[in-house]
Amino acid sequence: MAEEQLTAPSSDEASGKRGIHGAWSSRWTFVMAATGSAVGLGNIWKFPYIAGENGGGAFVLVYLICILLVGMPVMVAEVMLGRRGRQSPINAMRYLTQEAGLHGAWNAIGWLGVTAGLMILSYYAVIAGWALYYIGQMASGTFQGASADQAGVVFGQLLSSPKELIFWQSIFMLLTMAVVVGGVTRGLGVAVRILMPLLFVLLVILLGFSIQRGDFARGFSFLFSFNFEALTWAGVLEAMGHAFFTLSLGMGAIMAYGAYMPDHARIGRTVLAVGFLDTLVALLAGLAIFPIVFANPTIEPGAGPGLMFVSLPVAFGNMAGGLLFGSIFFVLVTLAAWSSAISLIEPAVAFLIESKGFNRITANLLLGGLAWSVGLGSVLSFNVWADVTLAGFNFFEFMDFLTSSVMLPLTGLFIALFVGWLMKPEAVRSELMDESSGVFTAWRWILRYISPAAVLVVFVMGVYKTFS
Ligand code: PHE
Repeated sequence: MAEEQLTAPSSDEASGKRGIHGAWSSRWTFVMAATGSAVGLGNIWKFPYIAGENGGGAFVLVYLICILLVGMPVMVAEVMLGRRGRQSPINAMRYLTQEAGLHGAWNAIGWLGVTAGLMILSYYAVIAGWALYYIGQMASGTFQGASADQAGVVFGQLLSSPKELIFWQSIFMLLTMAVVVGGVTRGLGVAVRILMPLLFVLLVILLGFSIQRGDFARGFSFLFSFNFEALTWAGVLEAMGHAFFTLSLGMGAIMAYGAYMPDHARIGRTVLAVGFLDTLVALLAGLAIFPIVFANPTIEPGAGPGLMFVSLPVAFGNMAGGLLFGSIFFVLVTLAAWSSAISLIEPAVAFLIESKGFNRITANLLLGGLAWSVGLGSVLSFNVWADVTLAGFNFFEFMDFLTSSVMLPLTGLFIALFVGWLMKPEAVRSELMDESSGVFTAWRWILRYISPAAVLVVFVMGVYKTFS
């Protein structure tokens, strides 16, 4: 990459202005944007089913510990890097690497992250497309009185039709691009200020429905009673990997969002708010889903990925008012996925604008088109290419594995090492000036020792378990 692109954060910084992409209108908008990124399919689709597969409570406890000891410290580091770099993750890392006098190979952090974002987006849009499809199916009564078998057929038919899958994937991708084209202030900022409150309202409505009509006591005790026997070492690893995915860490989203953060906003408490809200949504989603699942005796909580697309529609379809609330549920899932997807593409868009002179529209068309095309591989892996596998994974599973289990943890590890060991402590401290020295010291210690060790264990064990 040419030298002249090694710009420091624009000189406007000194006068209090931001980089070329604009900035969040307030610290609160940053909280909503980062929460919007964090809260997504990971919370509503994945968390309940992996908690279900791993026996509930004990898994939830391990997950919470991972959020606190790895997720939160790494998130502070990412926001800090983004705000200090004030550019897309690629250029921010290039600047920070230079500032710290390090070898250019550390730029890989930015590249890995931005690439992982586009790869995740490619399959994320496909799954989010399922949720879009389900809004209509729920509302039109397809699941009225349906049995688990019938619901399985509906899901199976969707998966077997590339045309249908591509249609919904495309709609979702267009929705995502439409927001990102609007830019940081008018696009992303406005979207999250509408989407996030709406999402919370819908979640509370669903929770009310679940308390009234579901088997709330059973759902609650499933999520919060500690059954340590059900928890395996593999479950611990899954909890840790999920902490990364659910907080959107290790792929530049949070770094890019940090670049648009006001100078004076306090990073520590802001990140705590995001982590708290993300965890709250995961737990509330679990509390909304399991009582509904348990209300139908034919369904079991460890149903796996189909929990949301097979079990839940059956449960809704057999409850009074279920069609309305079922539709609301899939609207909720779509909104959550939407506000995550915009953060998956924004880092790359920002990079093309900064370094290649693209405008937002062209950058979106190009990158959206790229992610969409790669996504076709995932679409086909559910039908035509179902038997085409690499190391036992079909295309979709491979992309998911490569990003969640390899790229995110690795980038997270590099970030912890970069900020904890390589950046000048004064530079780090100056971004976190508002934290007390006790809090700063504790955070830095965890980031230097605990987080890298934990990530390393996850990575090595995760890869080992997968291929052994
Ligand atoms: N955090 C999102 C979720 O839980 C997924 C995501 C990962 C979004 C990485 C952005 C970056 O669904």
